[in-house]
Amino acid sequence: MEHKNLHLLDHPLVQHKMAFLRDKNTGVKEFRTLIGEVSTLLCLEATRDLPLRPAQVETPVGMADVQMLAGRKLAIVPILRAGLGMVDGILQLVPAAKTGHIGLERNHETLEPREYYCKLPSDISQRDVLLLDPMLATGGSASAAIQLLKKKGVRRLSFVCVVAAPEGVERITREHPDIPIYCAALDQGLNENGYIVPGLGDAGDRIFGTE
Ligand code: PRP
Ligand code: URA
Repeated sequence: MEHKNLHLLDHPLVQHKMAFLRDKNTGVKEFRTLIGEVSTLLCLEATRDLPLRPAQVETPVGMADVQMLAGRKLAIVPILRAGLGMVDGILQLVPAAKTGHIGLERNHETLEPREYYCKLPSDISQRDVLLLDPMLATGGSASAAIQLLKKKGVRRLSFVCVVAAPEGVERITREHPDIPIYCAALDQGLNENGYIVPGLGDAGDRIFGTE
């Protein structure tokens, strides 16, 4: 299946950081830092089409024609828990973005997501939204979060993850063909427990040091 909506960031810096993220010997502190750094780089790509407006500023030497952001309002929405690990890295580039939270937990047997929390900016429908979760596995969690945001009236939405499985990409493509997906790696597939292979393990556990 062709993944027209998939933007795979194969930048050398990202790929180098992915090597350490995947390594099972990478500790919590370094893992959290790397997730933040990869998220910043993914954000650069996911915001590539933000509209600009012409302006002028005075440099110490003369007038310069410049381009500035046209003032579209942004929001980021991490999917709890693991999406939280991406927030600081993204806010480094878009510090004025508002942040909403969607709490979803995958049932370990059925792999179905259960919603346990949702708090979004009141004007979310007027914002460009980046939905964040490092792992796109079956796609159940991302699809449920996208559906929720669409129901709230969000029209401009991108999904930003770190590792994607083909199964998840295909599900989002099928159920939400209008949503672009930005990721740093497209892996082989899922194992019998719904984990991405080779992936990087349980992202939430590795970010927060739980197990
Ligand atoms: C993980 C991950 C995604 C989801 C991906 O979260 O962070 O949200 O699984 O799997 P899916 O594509 O098959 O839905 P998990 O439910 O383990 O919760 P956690 O972040 O609280 O650990
Ligand atoms: N969630 C994770 O954290 N890792 C996976 O590989 C799949 C789902």
